[in-house]
Amino acid sequence: MLILGLESSCDETAAALVTGDRQLLAHRLAGQEAAHRPYGGVVPEIAARAHVEALEPLIAAALADAGVTLADVDAVAATAGPGLIGGVMVGLVTGKALAHAAGKPLVAVNHLEGHALSPRLSDPDLEFPYLLLLVSGGHCQLLLVEGVGRYRRLATTIDDAAGEAFDKTAKLLGLGFPGGPAVERAALSGDPKAVPLPRPLLRSPEPHFSFAGLKAAVARVVGQYAPEDIAASFQAAVVDCLIDRTTRAMNRAGGATALVVAGGVAANSAVRGALSSLAAEHGLRFVAPPLWLCTDNAAMIAWAGAERFAAGLTDPLDVAARPRWPL
Ligand code: KG4
Ligand code: ZN
Repeated sequence: MLILGLESSCDETAAALVTGDRQLLAHRLAGQEAAHRPYGGVVPEIAARAHVEALEPLIAAALADAGVTLADVDAVAATAGPGLIGGVMVGLVTGKALAHAAGKPLVAVNHLEGHALSPRLSDPDLEFPYLLLLVSGGHCQLLLVEGVGRYRRLATTIDDAAGEAFDKTAKLLGLGFPGGPAVERAALSGDPKAVPLPRPLLRSPEPHFSFAGLKAAVARVVGQYAPEDIAASFQAAVVDCLIDRTTRAMNRAGGATALVVAGGVAANSAVRGALSSLAAEHGLRFVAPPLWLCTDNAAMIAWAGAERFAAGLTDPLDVAARPRWPL
């Protein structure tokens, strides 16, 4: 089985080819950081236009890398949401056109499902059910992944996502865009105990997240402490919240074989390290995809497409692009 995957829901344009037995035959990605940097964040209209320019050449390059043509592909998988709607439409319409022209089935993939199933691409031994902490720029959720298309949401954020808090903190500290990696770098030379910062919802009975108060607290201390100390203290606060909330959710994730982390914030070493220790304490296997598979990419979309296609789940060509689409 060979699946072409397309991703364009935020600021990465990507195309990848993945087989049903987890071979990544091609993986092309074009970031748009330079285009958005002057604005300190992703500008939806600029993103959509950049996807239009980048996507077709990336698909052609991916097919060439894999040494295949569209005729060899079994299905075309494209992100159909959630995300910035202009970008989602570029990828989905392109996927529909290719599927129609080549007479192949279309798989409309939920971007979050792409993140949620991505650890199964890098780890062939990861079986359902598993407890997933999905932490990205737009989402912060704890899910019990019971099977393809079967996700039980145990917790979500009541305000901001963790990645959003990283991005805002980077902006407040003048560390540039994208924020997560910049905060992580600055934190390396800072003292995580230097700045007293709140841990919103710590020890509250429901495992939900909240980061708005932490972000506001960072805004209040900017200028009073060294940026490195603020970055390190902020990162420590986020890690404490993620660990506390995940611990809480573990009690509701009966039968889970592993603790899994996915999404852009899963690229953070402090986050990975703390979750790895937590899993060990609870006798669970810890699975984190390689860094390139944590942040947005098309391999995860192709893989989710492969899992859905294998389960007989394809979509009609009039399937809608969705700016919001809870798992
Ligand atoms: O999954 P992703 O690439 O896009 C979304 O679907 O949102 O996640 C992007 C988010 C951004 O907020 C980015 O700042 C954050 O992931 N991120 C990180 C790191 N790398 C990316 N946050 C903390 N530490 C990192 N190393
Ligand atoms: Zn994402």
